[in-house]
Amino acid sequence: MAPLTPLLLRYLVVILIPLFLFSSSASAWKKDEFRNCNQTPFCKCARTRTPHSLPRLIVSDLLISDGHLTAHLQPSLSSEDDVSAGDTPHPRPLVLRLSVYQDGILRLKIDEDYSAPSAPSKQRFEVPDVVLPDFEDRRLWLPRVSSTEDGSISSLYLSDGFEVVLRHDPFEIQVRRKRSNDPIISLNSHGLFEFEQLREKKEGEDWEERFRGHTDTRPHGPQSISFDVSFHGAEFVYGIPEHASTSLALRATRGPGVDHSEPYRLFNLDVFEYLHDSPFGLYGSIPFMLSHGLKGSAGFFWLNAAEMQIDVLAPGWDDSAAAGNDRIDTFWMSEAGIVDTFFFVGPGPKDVLQQYASVTGTLAMPQEFAIAYHQCRWNYRDEEDVATVDAGFDEHDIPYDVLWLDIEHTDGKRYFTWDRVLFPNPEEMQKKLAAKGRHMVTIVDPHIKRDDSYYVHKEATDKGYYVKDATGKDFDGWCWSGSSSYPDTLNPEVREWWAEKFSLKNYGGSTPSLYIWNDMNEPSVFNGPEISMPRDALHFGGVEHRELHNVYGLYFHMATADGLLKRGNGKDRPFVLSRAFFAGSQRHGAIWTGDNSADWDQLRSSVPMILTLGLTGISFSGADVGGFFGNPEPELLVRWYQLAAYYPFFRAHAHHDTKRREPWLFGERRTALIREAIHIRYSLLPYYYSLFRKASISGIPIMRPLWLEFPEDKKTFDNSEAFMIGEGILVQGIYEEGQKSVSVYLPGEQSWYNMRNGAAYSGGQTHKLEVFEDSIPSFQKAGSIVPRKYRFRRSTTQMANDPYTLVIALNSSLAAEGELYIDDGKSYDFEQGAYIHRRFVFSNGKLTSSTIHSASLREKKFSSSCTVERIILLGLPSGAKKAVIEPGNHETEIEPGPLTLRGGASSVALVIRKPNVRIADDWTIKVL
Ligand code: GLC
Repeated sequence: MAPLTPLLLRYLVVILIPLFLFSSSASAWKKDEFRNCNQTPFCKCARTRTPHSLPRLIVSDLLISDGHLTAHLQPSLSSEDDVSAGDTPHPRPLVLRLSVYQDGILRLKIDEDYSAPSAPSKQRFEVPDVVLPDFEDRRLWLPRVSSTEDGSISSLYLSDGFEVVLRHDPFEIQVRRKRSNDPIISLNSHGLFEFEQLREKKEGEDWEERFRGHTDTRPHGPQSISFDVSFHGAEFVYGIPEHASTSLALRATRGPGVDHSEPYRLFNLDVFEYLHDSPFGLYGSIPFMLSHGLKGSAGFFWLNAAEMQIDVLAPGWDDSAAAGNDRIDTFWMSEAGIVDTFFFVGPGPKDVLQQYASVTGTLAMPQEFAIAYHQCRWNYRDEEDVATVDAGFDEHDIPYDVLWLDIEHTDGKRYFTWDRVLFPNPEEMQKKLAAKGRHMVTIVDPHIKRDDSYYVHKEATDKGYYVKDATGKDFDGWCWSGSSSYPDTLNPEVREWWAEKFSLKNYGGSTPSLYIWNDMNEPSVFNGPEISMPRDALHFGGVEHRELHNVYGLYFHMATADGLLKRGNGKDRPFVLSRAFFAGSQRHGAIWTGDNSADWDQLRSSVPMILTLGLTGISFSGADVGGFFGNPEPELLVRWYQLAAYYPFFRAHAHHDTKRREPWLFGERRTALIREAIHIRYSLLPYYYSLFRKASISGIPIMRPLWLEFPEDKKTFDNSEAFMIGEGILVQGIYEEGQKSVSVYLPGEQSWYNMRNGAAYSGGQTHKLEVFEDSIPSFQKAGSIVPRKYRFRRSTTQMANDPYTLVIALNSSLAAEGELYIDDGKSYDFEQGAYIHRRFVFSNGKLTSSTIHSASLREKKFSSSCTVERIILLGLPSGAKKAVIEPGNHETEIEPGPLTLRGGASSVALVIRKPNVRIADDWTIKVL
């Protein structure tokens, strides 16, 4: 066993003496456990370089081969350099490859030349399985390259209106608009490109790195890569999760006006009690940044899973007179891997997201229950506790869909087992929940207890499926289960094996209504360097852990999701929540923001964190409601529910030393407020489900920054407090205790209707609003139609046949439109056409429902006998009395309500009661 570090001791204490723990003030983020840039040689060294101080890089030997452009890249060494180089070998040329893909995507790869005579024997790690398999089908065949007469520049067609310019000396890549020659993104404009080539160790050279008693043997020596990327015409940059921040836009980390900031770190870590505002790396990493400004949007993605550090440079950082221009310079550094980068031209922000999604994929369509409310706690103690909590929801008329069991449900943290004293009849327990349409989730972490009598450990050992340490032995680290080893899920055979563990036969006590939670998959190793795996640990194919660290969690998530898929013979959609993530994790399940704390600042930072995840592909995400550590004041808890009811993933969770906080434990009034918040989510499920479907096709997130919907409204660019749900709903969080009023900026030229009382507010203005206890401000955009369901049941399953309400918010032309997507909420039949997709349009006093889905005869069908029971019209001049429904020529009444007016609001809600048209049919309703 590894020596007991102070951290390990602390974790042991967590396990053994819970009583002394986590009174949230008692412990705080242990900064010293983690390396900063100065303690990270590749980062420290790269950060000291000044623009154009490195030897110039020159592009030569350009060729079009197989539809790609290839070339060599080599530093120009002056004769002086040659003489003084001494025993420093002349660098081998690197191989550069440019490829162009449909819709304005450029891929630039730079790697060692493995065919060169002095090529390194080890191949650098190129991340597999992240780029979609069919991405290559979208490649445009480059016929030729056009170079200027003097041969200094080559250019390539990228897409209509955009081209790529490759400057040869010094090397620079520029993506620019064709007609105006305006650059959009460029790489190496500041001459900071540096690629440490693999080489033999020189005599006496020390490659080891030490940190807090850990030694990284670094057998392959330095191999870092760094370069500068500029976003031209940009006002803000966003993305590169995961960091806790109260600002959605990334703040400058270096340059004038920035005092001692760390770069944004991308290194998946289990950070204990993280701060609400810090560039330090958290559980997941997505090296994708997007820029936005009035001139448009662009994106840049570096597919590299090693530790990365990224500086956002303040204007004037390079001492140029360029301060204040509309360019944002950034500096990217990685410890290992290759350059495999993607440039996205936009020009709109949604175009960038779609371009990125065409590379890494869109979210896996979840089952409907997964987007409803989840109840979790570390831990629901035993079957009786589960039954009591479950009954509590029914007694208090609060719907919920999933009850979660944390690590204590297992037999000694051996995953796939049950503590048979506390959970003697797990199948029965799940069946009881399933009878109410509810589901259960259990936790399965990657640390496998090293216990010879534990079948998972025995099999993994016998088959050689664990990650190895630097000496080639099974890596042995400390986690919840004590001495543990970690499956090497980089290996496809190990993933297959792991997936089989989830079959109903192999996972004793599981039933088809059980789903999975993957935690600690950064991976977390309590006694490892920075609470993770040593970088010199070895994976399948001799890949060092340093090269793939950030993608380990994704592989584990992938194998688990695959296991659930196989369990149901590929019929049902899996649900797996993961803490660690990487680009592409959206294809495997949901993500949450880990161990936050019960304080107002963390409530505030949850919004930019979730928005950032959505912008970088991970649309299905949320934060622990109430805060994981500490005990929220009831007011904070209520505000958290009110905000989280809009998170795409909505789960309450708490540390085991916190007080119980099921929704009914804070008095009748608070129970009513929490019930109301959860009801809002349930009433909006038809809208959410439709948005999930959209996200699964397009990559456009469910929860969106305002500028995604209003890209030309400058006032939205830096708004981190409000967000959109789809195109129709704007939500403003309340992040302060006792807040009495709030200023809300409502963008656009159209008006907005307060969803609490129907009052209309004009767009393009900031409104100072009174804050109420019963809800946070939310608005429906004039011109939108939102489908809802207002009958509250125990769970989504029980709502399947309930009728719909359509809420129509009219714009100044008395028009509106919206959509509704429905399927069986469970299977993959929708992929064969078994769904209903309707478009609703209100114009000229008439609401029309028509299908968006043109089903072919060979497709599977999905039918629904659900009806529309109510249509609420906001913004219709009063006077309308009747509605006529076609076909059938039925008449029905129009009455005021139920959105009653408060506070002198100027709009009236009119309600068409019981139109009783079927949701699946074509119909019109004329207002008279
Ligand atoms: C980690 C998770 C937390 C979980 C705990 C015990 O801290 O982030 O959600 O409750 O482990 O499994």
